[in-house]
Amino acid sequence: MQILVTGGAGYIGSVVAEELLKDGYGVVVYDNLVKGHREAIPPEAAFVHADLTDGATLRETLSKHAVRAVVHMAADSLVGESYENPAKYYRNNVVAGLALLDAMIDTGVKSLVFSSTAAVYGELEKQPIEEDDPVNPTNPYGQSKLALEQAMRWYDEAYDLRYESLRYFNAAGASEHCGERHDPETHLIPIVLQVAAGRRAAVEIYGDDYPTRDGTCVRDYIHVIDLARAHVLALKVLDQGSRIYNLGCGGDGYTVREVIDVAREVTGKEIPVHIGPRRLGDPAVLIASSKKIKRELGWSPFFQDLRLIIESAWRWMLAHPNGYAA
Ligand SMILES: NC(=O)c1ccc[n+]([C@@H]2O[C@H](COP(=O)([O-])OP(=O)(O)OC[C@H]3O[C@@H](n4cnc5c(N)ncnc54)[C@H](O)[C@@H]3O)[C@@H](O)[C@H]2O)c1
Repeated sequence: MQILVTGGAGYIGSVVAEELLKDGYGVVVYDNLVKGHREAIPPEAAFVHADLTDGATLRETLSKHAVRAVVHMAADSLVGESYENPAKYYRNNVVAGLALLDAMIDTGVKSLVFSSTAAVYGELEKQPIEEDDPVNPTNPYGQSKLALEQAMRWYDEAYDLRYESLRYFNAAGASEHCGERHDPETHLIPIVLQVAAGRRAAVEIYGDDYPTRDGTCVRDYIHVIDLARAHVLALKVLDQGSRIYNLGCGGDGYTVREVIDVAREVTGKEIPVHIGPRRLGDPAVLIASSKKIKRELGWSPFFQDLRLIIESAWRWMLAHPNGYAA
């Protein structure tokens, strides 16, 4: 069974492609390589170098490869950039996303797993967050992902498109071959490890006066392999109807200082920090309730311990000191 993975040359998409291949699926990666890396694409996968807005190539790809389902991960996902350039986010995450849905309907592909985000919830007081809690994005990035997720509901009603929307919290860690290499990098764990590797001077902590156990923000980290495995499980139940799942490890989450302390232990490096002001729109705590996906899909994280997540990211960074070659 052939699965199209949009954004499959990106950080999470490349690991999703690996996990699908391990499970016996055929994989077609569809990526414009604006952010992705050719080297991250598993050699067993077919690769189409094109943009989602190229409807002709998209339709040809879906038909030629007899694609049965799509995992849609291609998107822009920098919160700060989305405030400055909302048009880019509406174009790439909504307009290009709709182009994909239309191409799927036209070619009779009616099964979709979508990379959604915790950013759809905005700044909720209630934690951990459950799937039926209110959505109220506080940035154009989250709003654009929610807009496509909501369009899927109506495509389901009108055209029988079945979707599973997976609302990820913070993906982290690496597989043996694929790791996190964003430019610019905005995610805490790779930034902390870049400091450990001597490529940055210090980690900026955005506020240490939050009402949390050590004053720094609490976040939920999920290993990218655990995240990828959830996609494989989601694909298997698509015929049972459309659903939305949170994807995080739950528990108490980790503060920024706890992440840095674990990274110090793993790397044996000092990792200097600098305390800066709070950032606009950063909630004190963001933790997923992952009860629903555990109950309904039998998913559970193998790598819940933050040390395992950071160890895998550090191993990958040491093996790829300059990131991907291409
Ligand atoms: N990284 C996280 O912690 C996180 C958290 C929540 C949600 N997400 C979502 O997960 C998905 C993947 O995130 P990532 O961190 O792997 O991002 P990434 O930037 O590493 O990967 C995205 C990939 O999509 C490709 N792409 C973007 N627009 C395209 C287009 N129009 N046509 C073809 N290819 C295109 C890029 O070249 C890149 O390879 C995104 O949808 C993001 O919103 C990520």
